[in-house]
Amino acid sequence: MQKYVKCLLAAVTLAFPYIGHAQQLDSSMAEGAALYGKHCAKCHGKEGRANTLRGWFASAQDLTDSVWQAETSDADIIDALEKGPRSMPSYAKKLSASEQQALVDAVRRLQR
Ligand code: HEC
Repeated sequence: MQKYVKCLLAAVTLAFPYIGHAQQLDSSMAEGAALYGKHCAKCHGKEGRANTLRGWFASAQDLTDSVWQAETSDADIIDALEKGPRSMPSYAKKLSASEQQALVDAVRRLQR
């Protein structure tokens, strides 16, 4: 019985860092989605398809497009956030590096 408890304790201790990591991933996913909803959805659309009136007027990029996703690197997305191509605003001063990274991950999850 004692052996069983020890074994269980060991398993929980070993699993703990992974549980912690998963929670961290969850919170950065939630952060990215929230930032996207706040700053990006008005042009690029809630699902990234840029099917909003503003997105249409600005001809914003369809972020779900798989060809665009494949041709675009994470660095390109950061670059777009920093510079703001055409009518897109620059987020260089508005978003921290970690917020920009959370947005890169959020944009990646939009792929159809
Ligand atoms: C005012 C409307 C507007 C807002 C708000 C906006 N964008 Fe854009 N975005 C655009 C337009 C327009 C383009 C297309 C520019 C072009 O043709 O390269 C674009 C392009 C992009 C691109 C593609 C750049 C490339 O290299 O192809 C990415 C990625 C992007 N936006 C992400 C975002 C993210 C993430 C946010 C939120 C932080 C955001 N955008 C907010 C209008 C907007």
